[in-house]
Amino acid sequence: MNPTFPKTYGEQERKSGVNIAVFCSGNGTNLQAIIDSQKKGYIKADIKLVISDTPDCYALTRAKDAGIKIFVVERKNFKTKKDFEIEILEALKKENISLIALAGYMRMLSKSFISAYENKIMNIHPALLPSFKGAHGIKDAFEYGVKITGATVHFVTLGMDAGPIILQSSVKVTEDDTEETLAEAIHEEEHKIYPRAIQLFIEGKLKIEGRKVRILE
Ligand code: GRF
Repeated sequence: MNPTFPKTYGEQERKSGVNIAVFCSGNGTNLQAIIDSQKKGYIKADIKLVISDTPDCYALTRAKDAGIKIFVVERKNFKTKKDFEIEILEALKKENISLIALAGYMRMLSKSFISAYENKIMNIHPALLPSFKGAHGIKDAFEYGVKITGATVHFVTLGMDAGPIILQSSVKVTEDDTEETLAEAIHEEEHKIYPRAIQLFIEGKLKIEGRKVRILE
């Protein structure tokens, strides 16, 4: 049976502080941006845990360097996806996590996992959703020949890259751009909007109304 979690993010949790878990599978530049923003006092929450399915990813080094607890959990060590996710949920429960930030985490979460943390899971995507969903958002947009692309932070729902959009930032594609220079420009925007989206959540300023997220400012 799945562990149970509170369904709503209430005033009580907000008063006692938000505990964040960041999920990563790769380089972790977004994790770094979140860590740096927290250190500067912009994100007012504890980054309690970094979870990864990839034991040798650089994001884990970043977490260790920042003194953040890491939890490595590999899918291959579990018979079922459910067992794998229960292991993660237990770790989240231990740290009293109230917000999950997916930052280059290369796995889809199941319906039960998402409903255990309904409206408390965010993701960052390197394109202007709903365009160019999937694992190659930058390459796909570049090859398509768009003149404007960007980055999107959204809440996670069952569909891939399909949840309500929190923040977006646009990036112009110039004649001189290569996929690499475009990626750099997009990452720069990601590193601005992800910490901002997280802090808005912490302040209780994100109100989901159907597909839309209202920002109460
Ligand atoms: C980012 O481009 C993000 O949008 C996507 O995966 C990439 C992760 O990069 N979901 P990093 O590991 O944060 O450097």
